[in-house]
Amino acid sequence: MSTLEGKVALITGGARGQGRSHARTLAQAGADVIVIDICADLATVPYRLASEAELAETAGEVQASGRKCVTKIADVRDSAAVVTAVDEAVAELGRLDIVVANAGVLSWGPVDCTPQQVFDDTIAVNLIGVWNTFEATVPHILEHGDGGCIVVIGSTNSNSAKTLEVSTAARAYVASKHGVIGLMRSYALQLSPLGIRVNAVEPCGVDTMMLTNDAAQRIIEQGGPYDMLNPMGMERIEPEDVSAAIEFLVSDRARYITGIEFPVDAGFGVK
Ligand SMILES: NC(=O)c1ccc[n+]([C@@H]2O[C@H](COP(=O)([O-])OP(=O)(O)OC[C@H]3O[C@@H](n4cnc5c(N)ncnc54)[C@H](O)[C@@H]3O)[C@@H](O)[C@H]2O)c1
Repeated sequence: MSTLEGKVALITGGARGQGRSHARTLAQAGADVIVIDICADLATVPYRLASEAELAETAGEVQASGRKCVTKIADVRDSAAVVTAVDEAVAELGRLDIVVANAGVLSWGPVDCTPQQVFDDTIAVNLIGVWNTFEATVPHILEHGDGGCIVVIGSTNSNSAKTLEVSTAARAYVASKHGVIGLMRSYALQLSPLGIRVNAVEPCGVDTMMLTNDAAQRIIEQGGPYDMLNPMGMERIEPEDVSAAIEFLVSDRARYITGIEFPVDAGFGVK
């Protein structure tokens, strides 16, 4: 029997990148999957966000594993929209066990917006969006009484201010990724006695559009105040490396693991 058979997992920002890999991995482990994504661009983000076609591709990859997939378009900044999307999707699949709060943005590079707008949007997506995701999903996990797991996606910037750019966008990203660790700890303390484990995964650079877009590439090529080379000798890992950590943390093999930061960073944290 697959480790996650009979369970339903929800992933925000799952139309592409790491979120898609998490959806595919959890489906291969036996879970049905709910994928939420904005499927629209933000003026404060200098690269395109996911499209509806990409969201449909993720659903296709989940279904190829013989699992059900419900997709919803919602902006994690919008609490009411997240509640509606989660309620409708859970009604369709019958329950909710696992949540991966993954949606995020990184606005390195020029945008036609004020620094204030960049700061506000980054915090709204990366931090308030995670809070909105907890608030919308926890009641559904509590409903069945079997417990569950929530993973928030931090970053090496959850513990370090080292970024390739010195800017408002970089400060906002660092602040948001430190902030999600506070949320993770706070919810872990509250929810662990109720059978819901809460943990954070903290990747180093990952090979996705967040880093491969033109604006970020220009900054990477110029070289910044800190290099991204990890002690293991590479600058980026693959989305599947992060998914493997998540698959472990949401499985029963991790049944006594809660409230932790789990780096998947090729040693970046000891630099
Ligand atoms: N790529 C990296 O180097 C890296 C490193 C560490 C942590 N992370 C984190 O990993 C997570 C996934 O990022 P990724 O690397 O897959 O990048 P990505 O840009 O490929 O994926 C992000 C996804 O989130 C969605 N999204 C953005 N804003 C949203 C919103 N307001 N509401 C709903 N969905 C929204 C996008 O449409 C996209 O599908 C993010 O939280 C990111 O901060 C990324």
